[in-house]
Amino acid sequence: MLSTASMSRLLALTSLIPLVCAQFAARPLSAGPWFDGRVQGQALDYGQNDTSLDVETDVASIIDMRDVWTIAERRLNSIVYGRIAGGTSNEDTLHWNVDSYREVHLRPRLLRDITNASIAVNFSLYNGAGEEFPINASSPFFFAPSGSQGLVWPDGELATIGAAAEAGVVAAISSFSTVAYDVVGAAKSDNQTLWAQLYPTTMTRAEWLDWIKTRQEAGYSATVITLDVVSDPLESRNWRAGNEHATLDAPFLNIITWDDVQYLKDNSPLPIVLKGIQTYEDAVLARDIGVAAIYLSNHGNRAADGVQSPLEVLLEIRKNAPGLVDEIPIFIDGGIYTGTNALKAIALGAKMVGLGRPVQFALTMGQAGVKKMIDTLYYELHQQLQLVGGNSLDELDASYVNTLRLDAFIPTYSS
Ligand SMILES: *[C@@H]1O[C@H](CO)[C@@H](O)[C@H](O)[C@H]1NC(C)=O
Ligand SMILES: *[C@@H]1O[C@H](CO)[C@@H](O)[C@H](O)[C@H]1NC(C)=O
Ligand SMILES: *[C@@H]1O[C@H](CO)[C@@H](O)[C@H](O)[C@H]1NC(C)=O
Ligand SMILES: *[C@@H]1O[C@H](CO)[C@@H](O)[C@H](O)[C@H]1NC(C)=O
Ligand SMILES: *[C@@H]1O[C@H](CO)[C@@H](O)[C@H](O)[C@H]1NC(C)=O
Repeated sequence: MLSTASMSRLLALTSLIPLVCAQFAARPLSAGPWFDGRVQGQALDYGQNDTSLDVETDVASIIDMRDVWTIAERRLNSIVYGRIAGGTSNEDTLHWNVDSYREVHLRPRLLRDITNASIAVNFSLYNGAGEEFPINASSPFFFAPSGSQGLVWPDGELATIGAAAEAGVVAAISSFSTVAYDVVGAAKSDNQTLWAQLYPTTMTRAEWLDWIKTRQEAGYSATVITLDVVSDPLESRNWRAGNEHATLDAPFLNIITWDDVQYLKDNSPLPIVLKGIQTYEDAVLARDIGVAAIYLSNHGNRAADGVQSPLEVLLEIRKNAPGLVDEIPIFIDGGIYTGTNALKAIALGAKMVGLGRPVQFALTMGQAGVKKMIDTLYYELHQQLQLVGGNSLDELDASYVNTLRLDAFIPTYSS
């Protein structure tokens, strides 16, 4: 005989079964049409990485991100494609980053006048001394720092920032830019915002500060510090495609700690953005230190595999640190391949949404390709905002989304 307590526990568990079943039934096996469904290691029939292929026709054919993916597969050779497309280990996170957005659904409101709807973004970042660095962008999309763009297009970063200037969006430049940071800075338009990404490897605090000062002088207006690559992950697809492996005796070590973050926040002339936050605890620490913004990211699954999607991290923050999303600007990337996904993240409190692979893949068509890619996202987000009855992104809140299917799996932590 079961005791009454055991009975009610059993009943409580049983009531979860439909939710659990729904969760798994809803999860597609492959991550969707823009990820290749190919078995890793299969012989691939890619293009020749040939930038002389007709750009105009390809750019004109772009309707949405699927086309960008398909065109990139055709234009890149397997080495470069493998490097950009791949995640780490089993690539579970690569797929889940996108799939988790499918578990959240929009709740459109009707009969509102949405004729003046705008997706423009207007807020500021601050350095430790309280100096203001305004962000005035035509949309919340920004180019996530993503390195070695010269593999995709000659002087790739220059084409990328050219498109960002035309579109009025913020671009973050990777430490591993093919074009030197000061050359990129010199090519920047007056109306353009650039951020500089830093891997805090074996430098001293003084060297980090010097690094940041040189970026400020070169025209950058924030430093994005990447925290999530503390050693070289197993880049399965990249290595299988023929790129060089890392070895355990040559780790890529981030040696930064929270004390260093406090120091940088207090002393950096530029606002500090912490990239790679994946738990509510770290979001709280970053807010308490007072950095300019936090950036939820798992490096597009180029760091740890098997982690939560950034969207789940956002929900975890909402549940465990109520109010935090209004206290510090939150940026997010990972699976933002549609205006719809961007809208969902923004309704949940994200201020800006980052694009990594979309930029690299669009860059296979040079500046015109990147511009067309961002134009399609701009269109999609603008329309989606109107379709849910919104006039501005600031107006959106969690009442515009149903997140129950993910919420059911977000714990309340006892801290
Ligand atoms: C939209 O903008 C026009 C022109 O500024 C203005 O006359 C109109 O009242 C606005 N509509 C709404 C709903 O804000
Ligand atoms: C941006 O916001 C500031 C202060 O909130 C305001 O003064 C300014 O007019 C806004 N700029 C635009 C372009 O909306
Ligand atoms: C903000 O950007 C818009 C165009 O996107 C421009 O018209 C406006 O002058 C800018 N405002 C500031 C304060 O830079
Ligand atoms: C094509 O790919 C190779 C690597 O396989 C790279 O070294 C080269 O720079 C690429 N060419 C162009 C024009 O981007
Ligand atoms: C910024 O300046 C560039 C070059 O002067 C121009 O092409 C572009 O349209 C401007 N962007 C915006 C959003 O005003």
